Order: sequence, then structure tokens, then C-alpha cells
Amino acid sequence: FRYFRFLWRLTYLSAIAGTAYLAHGVWELRHPEEQFEPDPSKKNLVILGTGWGAVSLLKKLDTENYNVIVISPRNYFLFTPLLPSCTTGTVEHRSIMEPIRSITRHKQAAVKFYEAEATKIDHVNKIITIDDNSDIKGAMSKTGVPYDMLVVSVGAENATFGIPGVRENACFLKEIGDAQQIRKKIMDCVETATFKDQSPEEIERLLHMVVVGGGPTGVEFAGELQDFFDQDVKKWVPEISDKVKVTLIEALPNVLPMFSKQLIDYTESTFKEEKITIKTKTAVKKVTESTVEAEATGPDGKKYTEILPYGLLVWATGNAVRPVVGDLMSQIPAQKDSRRGLAVNEYLVVQGTHDIWAVGDCAVSGYAPTAQVASQEGSFLARLFNTMAKTEAIEDHIHDLSSTLNLKPGNAAEIAKEIEENEKQLRRIKDIKPFHYTHQGSLAYIGSDRAVADVSWLNGNFATGGGLTYLFWRSAYLSMCFSTRNRVLVVIDWAKSKVFGRDVSRE
Ligand code: FAD
Ligand code: NAI
Repeated sequence: FRYFRFLWRLTYLSAIAGTAYLAHGVWELRHPEEQFEPDPSKKNLVILGTGWGAVSLLKKLDTENYNVIVISPRNYFLFTPLLPSCTTGTVEHRSIMEPIRSITRHKQAAVKFYEAEATKIDHVNKIITIDDNSDIKGAMSKTGVPYDMLVVSVGAENATFGIPGVRENACFLKEIGDAQQIRKKIMDCVETATFKDQSPEEIERLLHMVVVGGGPTGVEFAGELQDFFDQDVKKWVPEISDKVKVTLIEALPNVLPMFSKQLIDYTESTFKEEKITIKTKTAVKKVTESTVEAEATGPDGKKYTEILPYGLLVWATGNAVRPVVGDLMSQIPAQKDSRRGLAVNEYLVVQGTHDIWAVGDCAVSGYAPTAQVASQEGSFLARLFNTMAKTEAIEDHIHDLSSTLNLKPGNAAEIAKEIEENEKQLRRIKDIKPFHYTHQGSLAYIGSDRAVADVSWLNGNFATGGGLTYLFWRSAYLSMCFSTRNRVLVVIDWAKSKVFGRDVSRE
């Protein structure tokens, strides 16, 4: 009885602590403190982008040290790890968006935000051209923004390798709009397949969902899609239950190349169970309105062409350089050998420039283009800039003290001591170590309430897959969500889709 009373008390106290934590989070979110305007004589620090790199920089930056200006065509941060779940409605898109206005409004000193796209970076005259590309434009929709310090964190665009027909016919999975388009198209395929007198070949084509790219984006999406069909669509539209087919195409010999062999095998066998067809050693060469043409390599090493009719095609073959980044690279001779983005040094300074830093997917720093890397790079820059501001303040103070030395000879010994102490502090602060990435592991959802994880733990690697890993995946992503609001909304979405099923209406 005592044991139960103890357990009951523990649960009761945890519930109170949890509610207090939530209430505090909500209160903080809804009641930002008064902000002060930064000193106009301070340097202009311009940040391009509102993704993982930019937002983690912003989060840790002492904004009172600079005039901070954020520029991005997207006025929100997007929690990309849960984007595949939005394509089927497991999670609603607004649950993984955090308005940038809320992030900037919670900083001590005000931050300016311009919803615009940077179209040109003139690194000689230190000016950025920005365009308002939204639907509503004012009299001013293109202008220049001068900078003293610039952080490029514009991410990357979808790679298509110039394969004909991809841009015109495929869906991508990078932005909220992409997920919404896919969600709509899935149900459009289903409803069109059930149209009166549809031929069997056409039904087969419409219900064939093809995913190109066996990296984590393609794998997670294929898993979510199969879940949606198995758990919801087949229930409400039983006549198509044996006709839906998901195919994942990958050019390399296996999917998820960044995971260990054991997890690759586990993923492939899980997909087999889920009836997702994996076609490895198959490179797509051409796409038309209704077919994918691929070059496959058979077990005998012989190449042959395969033509696959499809209803929905999702293209997830990795990253390509954005035009604004490509243009900046072409202006800088030191970047001429860099292909995948802006080559940076160990302090993330863009090689061949002064006062330009790059983080995330647009930077080539020797690490994979992941949210983990982008966010650690952003935090590193925040520490660097905070330190730089501190050193500047101390240097100014030393300068002031030195100039009063002659004016106040009576206090000379005292002033000299203060100068010495400041110089000591300055040396300590200036000893900033280069950027070092700490890999915490890779996680991916593979469908059927299973996930795979390659986690770095106690200086070793720990590879696991299955239902428990899925719970770990969920709790890890939940804790990584940007705000309390995001966390609450995601939990509600997960509960909603479990209890009521995913919504199959086409918006
Ligand atoms: P982004 O987060 O892409 O942000 C770029 C920002 O720049 C955006 O705000 C964009 O609007 C803005 N921008 C674009 N062009 C311009 C311009 N011209 N001027 C100004 N601003 C501009 N990584 C993981 O580690 N774990 C995961 O689970 C994971 N899951 C993912 C799932 C999906 C579906 C995808 C697509 C990616 C996933 N990633 C994951 C990778 C991760 O999202 C990226 O590595 C990360 O977003 C890179 O951060 P970033 O700041 O460089 O770019
Ligand atoms: P990716 O670059 O990881 O994978 C793309 C895949 O497409 C490659 O395996 C490539 O061989 C294949 N491919 C390229 N062209 C092809 C063609 N013509 N035909 C068939 N296959 C072709 O890209 P992805 O998955 O978009 O990921 C981008 C980045 O985001 C990666 O760094 C990844 O690690 C990260 N990410 C991480 C996630 C996670 O940790 N859960 C989830 C999603 C993305």
C-alpha cells in the first residue's frame, strides 16, 4: 500500500511539475519583455535565412551588440525532421512552423526582419540586393541592404541533375508547400483511380507512388506513405486496397548509405514486409507526365532500361546550390574549386572574403548537410559574435584607460593595474577554438511504427531499429521541436491521428 501511495504521489508531483513547466512556457511565449532599440552606431549584422543555421544563431546571439537584420522569403522556422509526416497528415503543417516574428520579438534588443529573397551579394561594396517575391507587393519591392557582417544560411535547393521532366512533373519535399502539394496529390490519385469506368491499367498507374532517392528523405516519406495507405486509405476506400503500390528507386546499391550495414538491412527487410518495392542500382534518367524512365543494373552487371508508369512522383535526390550562393561563389576566385557550396574555414568564414560567414547546407565545412550540423554551426557563430563584441568593448575600454593615464598621473598605478586586468581578460576571451562538430547520431522513421537509430553514446556507436527505437525517435524529435507550442501541437496531432485516423479529405 505504501508503495502505491509513493507511486501515486510521484505521479501527482510529476503532473504538477509538467503543468507548471508548460504554463511557464506558454506564459513566456505570450508575454515577451519590453525590447530596446539597438545603438545605430553598432555594426549591421545581416543574417540570410530563417532555417536551422540562422535560427540557432539568432537564439544564442546577444542582439544588443549589433544591429541585427534577418532576411528570408519565409517568415517562419520549419522543423524539417517532421516534414515527411505532414505529407499524410500525421502531423499538421502549422504544428512544425514557428513564426520568426515570435523568435525575434523574444530577443533583448530589437531585430529587423524583411520577408524577401536575397538575389545578389556584392561582397566588394558590402551590399545585398533583396526582392519581395510574395504575392502582395508594395511600391518598394526591390532594394539594397548594406552590411558590416554577413551570415549566409540560405540552405540548398533540390538537386535534379538536369534530368529532363523532373521540375515539370515531380513533387519535392523541402518546404511546407511541397508537403501540402503531396498530400493533395495522394488523395487526387486515389479519387481519380476510383472514377467511373477507369481502366485497370490507368488504376494501376494512378495508384503507383514512386519515390526517387533512397536517402533519409525518400525512405521516411515512403514509410509514411505506406502507413497512410495501410492504416487509413484502405479502410475508407477498400476497393483500392490491393492496388496501391509504393516504389523507392535508388541509384546506389543500397538505401540510407549513411547508416550502418545492419540498419540498412533492417530497413530493407521492413520495407519488404510493408510491401514497399525497393529498386536499387537504378538511376532515373528521364521523367514524363506519367512515366519514369530508369537505367537499372541487373545482378549480371548488365544495364537495361525500365519504364515505370506513376500517379505520384516524389523526387528526393539531395541538395543543389542556390542561385544567390552560386553567384557569390562565381565572384570569388578562392571558391572556384568548390562545387557543393561556399567553402569555409574552421571559423566558418567564407574563403576569400572578409566579414562573410556561411552555415548549414549552403556551406562546405566538411560535414554532412544536416540540421544537426547547421544548428551547431549557428550556435558556434553566436558564441563567436558574442565574444567578438565583448573583445571590442574591452579593447575600447583599454583605449579609454590608456588615454586617461596621462591626464590623471595621481591614479597612474591604479589605471595601469586595470589595463593589465583587462588585457588578461581579453587574452582569455580571444582564445576562441575553431568550430568542432559533435555528431549525436542519425535517426530515421521507416514506417509501421519502427525507426532506425545510429546513436553516438559513451564514446561508442549504438545501432538499433524497431518499435522501441520509434518511441525514442518520437521523444527525441519532440524534445528538439522549437517551442513549447510546437511540442504541444505535435503531441495533439499524433494523438488525433491515432484516435481518429488521418484525414483523407482532399483540400
Ligand atoms: P534551411 O533550414 O533549409 O533554411 C534555409 C533558409 O534560407 C530558409 O528559411 C529559406 O527560406 C531561406 N532562403 C532561401 N533562399 C534564400 C535567399 N535567396 N535569401 C534569403 N533567404 C533564403 N537533418 C537532420 O539532421 N535530421 C533530420 O531528421 C532531418 N530531416 C529532414 C527531413 C526533410 C524532409 C528534409 C528536406 C531535410 C531534413 N534534414 C534533417 C536536413 C535539414 O533540414 C537541413 O540540413 C537543414 O534544414 C539545413 O539548415 P539550413 O539553415 O542550412 O537551411
Ligand atoms: P541524400 O543526398 O541523402 O540522398 C539522395 C539519394 O538519391 C542518394 O542516395 C542518391 O544516390 C540518390 N539519387 C540521386 N540521383 C538519383 C537518380 N537519378 N535516380 C535514383 N536515385 C538517385 O538526400 P536526402 O535524403 O534529401 O537528404 C539530404 C540531407 O538531409 C542529407 O544530408 C540527409 O542526411 C539529411 N536528412 C536527414 C534525415 C534524418 O536524419 N532523418 C532526414 C532527411 C534528410
